[in-house]
Amino acid sequence: MKIYPANSLGGTIQLPGDKSISHRAAIFSAMATGDTRIENFATSADCASTIGCLQDLGVEIKRENNTIFITGVGKTGFQKPKNALDCGNSGTTMRLLAGVLAGQDFDSVLIGDESLSKRPMRRIIEPLTGMSAKIEAENNCAPLKICGKNPLRPIAYDLPVASAQVKSCVLLAGLNAQGVSKVQSPKSKVQSPTSRNHTELMLRYLGAEIEEVFERVEEEFVQEISIDGDSQLSARDLNVPSDISSAAFFIVAASCLKDSEIILQNTGLNPTRTGIIEVLRNLGAEIEIMNLREICNETIGDLIVRGRESFASQGFSNVIGGEIIGNLIDEIPILAVFGTQTESGLEIRNAEELRVKESDRIKAVVENLRRMNADVEEFADGFRIGKSELKGAQVDSFGDHRIAMAFAVAALFAEGATEILGAECADVSFPEFFQTLSSVRK
Ligand code: S3P
Repeated sequence: MKIYPANSLGGTIQLPGDKSISHRAAIFSAMATGDTRIENFATSADCASTIGCLQDLGVEIKRENNTIFITGVGKTGFQKPKNALDCGNSGTTMRLLAGVLAGQDFDSVLIGDESLSKRPMRRIIEPLTGMSAKIEAENNCAPLKICGKNPLRPIAYDLPVASAQVKSCVLLAGLNAQGVSKVQSPKSKVQSPTSRNHTELMLRYLGAEIEEVFERVEEEFVQEISIDGDSQLSARDLNVPSDISSAAFFIVAASCLKDSEIILQNTGLNPTRTGIIEVLRNLGAEIEIMNLREICNETIGDLIVRGRESFASQGFSNVIGGEIIGNLIDEIPILAVFGTQTESGLEIRNAEELRVKESDRIKAVVENLRRMNADVEEFADGFRIGKSELKGAQVDSFGDHRIAMAFAVAALFAEGATEILGAECADVSFPEFFQTLSSVRK
């Protein structure tokens, strides 16, 4: 894929449905009793993996464009699959389904592609084993053989990492446990969730008994979420907001190309996902939020983004670290690209989790930015980027959708053409990305 520099972006667009919310909408509707219609379901290959696995578990699912119809089977109504369940590239599919399958009365196997088969699964094996499921996995990586049990033993689990996938896995297993299960988040200086909370919001929307409390521990906060294993889920139609993680590429592109003005309609603005907007604004980007409202317990609104000639921090530090990292974890590659265009540059810290995403995103960002002539220093838990004049180069997606899209944006303000190797992996989250980008180029 070759990308050439652009002058500006303009137009009004609505991006596909949020990937995280779509996975949950499909899985929870399958576990509910009754029929669900899901509007604006993600077009991503990852969410298609979730749908495929659910169908292999005997769930009836129909798709008409971006509307999905699911007939719920209840919490334990899944059928033993004939073959291994293929999660493709999707960590969310594997980790959330593991929580569901741990509480079924049959054995199943979860497999994934080369990248997913290298990602850490000990983080879910440990709590699920503590709940009395048996999981076999060589080196704590996929394939995962899950020997399910019903009911499971409830657990009180302290999350070792601020991961929404692990939290969700335990809560889903908790739905099939005898009693109340509890999940505690890592300590935080602020009284808000340390990872995205779509699971909690949607389970509550569908009628689960789920409670969240914050406890003060010295100067910090710990969030405890409890779920009652007696909870039943009742089907309710769902509408998925557009994906803020996909919007982030257009927000940065429009911000950095002066004379741009784009409107991103119906964008998900759940406060556990809007760290990117906060940081970009703090560093001088012009992002306006309009029509803020709620659908299906999620916050949604329209964004207007205007380009700027240059960016100066609005009195905020250019070191991004601590609690906010969990609220923008998937946006760090594109934030790095933005850093090259700011007067102060920027530094990312406490983001070691990036090393175990779809690729080692710290290494991928540092290597590609260097190939584009940027001034970058790598740390174990992040990087520092100085203001740089980007030059077109050959960069690599490293098989990672967010790396491919971040560097397509970098190419818009580089000098000369940029070639992205393996750009087709953008399909994992946003198959329409390159087409949408062409449609807003001026
Ligand atoms: C996700 C959680 C995050 C995120 C991933 C999607 C989710 O991962 O990076 O893209 O849908 O729960 P972790 O839970 O591992 O932080």
